Formats: sequence, C-alpha cells, structure tokens
Amino acid sequence: MASKTFNILSALSAVVLTSSIVFALPDASTVTDVRYTVHNLSNNTLIANGLAGEGRNYAASSLGQANQVCVFCHTPHNASPSIPLWNKVYTPGVESTYRLYTSSATLTPTAKAAKITADSESMLCLSCHDGKTAINVLHNSSYRDSSSGTDAVVDIDGTFSGTGPFALGDQWSGGFSSHNYPNLGAIRSADGSIPSSAASHNGTNLTDDHPIGFSYTAAQAQDASGLKLTPDAGIRLFGPTKRVECSSCHNPHVYYGSGLAGSGRVYYDTDITTPLVATAAQKARTPFLTMSNTGSALCKGCHIK
Ligand code: HEC
Ligand code: HEC
Ligand code: HEC
Ligand code: HEC
Repeated sequence: MASKTFNILSALSAVVLTSSIVFALPDASTVTDVRYTVHNLSNNTLIANGLAGEGRNYAASSLGQANQVCVFCHTPHNASPSIPLWNKVYTPGVESTYRLYTSSATLTPTAKAAKITADSESMLCLSCHDGKTAINVLHNSSYRDSSSGTDAVVDIDGTFSGTGPFALGDQWSGGFSSHNYPNLGAIRSADGSIPSSAASHNGTNLTDDHPIGFSYTAAQAQDASGLKLTPDAGIRLFGPTKRVECSSCHNPHVYYGSGLAGSGRVYYDTDITTPLVATAAQKARTPFLTMSNTGSALCKGCHIK
C-alpha cells in the first residue's frame, strides 16, 4: 500500500502548492473536480465562477484561514486513519452503532451479516453524513480559525452557520421542510421532511439505505443468477474481499455541475447568474456517482435484473 499512499501524498502536495493560482473552470473531459462541488467546504468561494450562495450550504467562515479544499477530508501529514490520509477525528467504537439494511428475508447470508468496521470506506462518508459527527472538526490542521481561535475547529458560515463543532443534523429547523437533507440516518416524514431535531440527528439508522459493508464476491457466489460476476466499469469494490461500500456507487470528488439551493439541487447552467456549464456526461454523475445511473445503469452494473 506504500505506493498508493505516496500517490495520494503527491496529489495533495500538488494541490497545496498550486492553491494560490486562479482556478480554471472544470474541463468538460474530466469529471473529478471537487472544488466545484458541495464537498468544497473551504472559504474559497470561487465567487467569479458562481460557487457562492446557492452553490454551497456549508462553507468555512471567511474570517478564518480555511482556504484549502482537500483539508476537510485529507491531510498530507499525520493522517488518521493513514489511508486515504484522512483528516477527521475518529471516535473509537462509533462503527458498531450503525444499524444496516440486513433484515430483508431475500438477502444472501453474506449481506445479512454486513458490518461497518473502523477501517471501512463507508466510515469516511459517515464521518459527516451520519448527522452526528461534526463536519468541521479536523484531526490535523495547519491554519487557525480566527473566530473560534481553535486550530482544528473551523467555523461554518454558509446558509446554515455555526461556531464550534457542527454536524449536518444541526441544520434542522421547524419550517425548513423541502431541503435535500444529506444526513442519511435522519427519520423522515412521508413528505420527505424531517420532523424534529432529534430525528435529524438519528444518524445510526441505515436500515432504509442500500446494504453496505459485506463482500461482493461472497454474496455473488451465493446469488450468481442475481449478481454479475464482475460489476461494470466504474463501480468500485474495496479491500481483499471486495466489499460493497458507499464509494461503490459514489465518488466524493466528482464534478456534476450543481449546488444545493433551499428547495433542492440547482444546476449552474440553468441559473442565469452563473457561468458554469456542465456536460450531459458530467450531470449524469449527480449526486457524486461513480457512473451514470441513467436507465438505472448503475444498479444494473451489479444486479442482473
Ligand atoms: C468530502 C470529502 C473529500 C474531499 C473534500 C476530498 N476528498 Fe479525496 N477522498 C475522499 C474519500 C472518502 C476517499 C476514499 C476513496 C473514495 O471514496 O473515493 C478519497 C480518496 C482520495 C484519493 C485516493 C483514491 C482516489 O480516488 O484517487 C486521492 C488521491 C484524493 N482523495 C485526493 C483528493 C484531493 C487532491 C482533494 C482536494 C482537491 C480531495 N481528495 C478532496 C474524500 C474527499
Ligand atoms: C467533510 C464532510 C463530508 C464528508 C467526509 C463527505 N461529505 Fe458528502 N456532503 C457534505 C456536505 C456539507 C454536503 C452538502 C450538504 C448541503 O449543502 O445540504 C454533502 C453532500 C453530499 C451529497 C448530496 C449532493 C447533492 O447534490 O445532492 C452526496 C451524495 C454526498 N455528499 C455523498 C458523500 C459520500 C458518498 C461521501 C464519502 C465517500 C461523502 N459524501 C463524504 C459533507 C461531507
Ligand atoms: C448501491 C449504490 C449506493 C450506495 C451503496 C450508496 N448510495 Fe448514496 N445514493 C445512490 C444514488 C443512486 C443516489 C441518488 C438517489 C436519487 O437521486 O434519487 C444516492 C443519494 C445519496 C445522497 C443524497 C441525499 C439522499 O439521502 O438521497 C447521499 C447524501 C448519499 N447518497 C450518501 C451515501 C452514503 C453516505 C452511503 C454509504 C453509507 C451511500 N450513499 C451508499 C447510490 C448509492
Ligand atoms: C456494487 C454493486 C451494486 C450496485 C451498483 C447496486 N447494488 Fe443493490 N445490491 C448489491 C448487492 C451485492 C446486494 C446484496 C444482494 C443479496 O445479498 O442478495 C444488493 C442488494 C440490493 C437490494 C436488496 C435486495 C433484498 O433482497 O433485500 C436492493 C433492493 C438493491 N440492491 C437495489 C439496488 C438499486 C436500486 C441500485 C441502484 C441505485 C443498486 N442496488 C446498485 C450490489 C449492488
């Protein structure tokens, strides 16, 4: 794994070194440009390119020095866990609190025994998307947030703002019902809204989300007529047992030309105030998908249906 770590390190160093250069718009031929996504939590607003306001609900306070994009997820040094140079604070034991989609009678024994472990890829996503873990507390940070005065806590100053540790679940407010809440475990009412602050923070309930945390190879062997021997190109499986994780379907760096406005998603090229244009191929990767799901291509990339 040493060479993989080295590659990530060089990629990160390159970005750090070039961070003061004026950004070019995302290239139509590429889909990975995390800067122009809601996963850019830095205070670099890219205002000239339309990434202010409707682009991101959460951005670091302009008072602080959190102008690096990658630092909210990765650090080039003293990472924890070391792969992929992760920069969030890990709470020991948190992985065993997640309840997964395992009670379906038709699942294979392998998928029924699914588990998230401390080193599973899905932990990386849940370290923000469980609605509980703070999105703005970093393990290692080389800048100081001028308003909180704390090195590793970055004040958030977007549509939803807060000082001190701040979780996606904290965004709940009674009247705000139509927003695309990204805290996966939240308990929703029939209309998709989240009825209470407690429901918003209920990050451990993944029983209504696609199963993760088990070996694809082992499940496929138990259901060879339902699952492809090898998933389609683009779909990713993890570790020696080829586990299904969030990142089988998602890639957190993908540029798909949109941000999140109050009532849902807005594409920059349909928003007259901004000049950002995304190609059809880029848009098809909404939201952060590893491949297009047009015609359920992503689902059919594994399932024989
Ligand atoms: C929102 C969180 C997030 C941000 C921001 C982010 N990454 Fe990542 N990155 C991840 C996760 C999670 C993985 C683990 C593999 C995966 O899910 O793609 C990863 C993996 C990687 C990898 C190794 C595997 C791969 O996909 O190539 C590299 C290199 C990388 N990131 C570079 C960067 C750089 C450079 C930036 C800033 C320009 C950045 N990342 C910003 C979450 C993030
Ligand atoms: C550093 C915190 C952080 C990490 C780590 C992170 N995310 Fe996010 N994610 C966010 C924020 C913030 C948003 C935007 C929420 C909003 O504006 O309402 C978001 C939004 C999303 C969305 C919705 C985008 C849309 O257009 O609807 C998806 C999907 C998503 N993230 C998937 C992932 C996956 C999968 C991973 C792991 C590979 C991951 N995220 C890791 C913070 C994070
Ligand atoms: C089997 C594929 C698959 C897996 C595994 C998966 N997702 Fe998704 N996810 C999707 C697709 C497809 C969408 C888009 C759904 C839509 O637009 O209706 C989505 C939507 C989302 C959203 C947008 C808001 C929402 O709730 O719909 C978030 C956030 C998200 N996923 C995060 C995650 C995280 C975190 C994990 C792991 C715990 C995960 N996903 C696992 C396929 C997957
Ligand atoms: C990475 C490959 C992969 C992708 C992509 C994928 N799935 Fe799955 N899915 C699986 C596996 C493996 C299982 C567990 C099957 C089993 O144990 O019988 C599963 C289980 C399921 C189940 C539960 C079946 C049951 O018996 O309860 C449903 C429903 C499902 N997937 C739908 C989808 C949909 C919809 C999509 C597209 C958004 C999708 N899957 C994408 C691999 C995948």
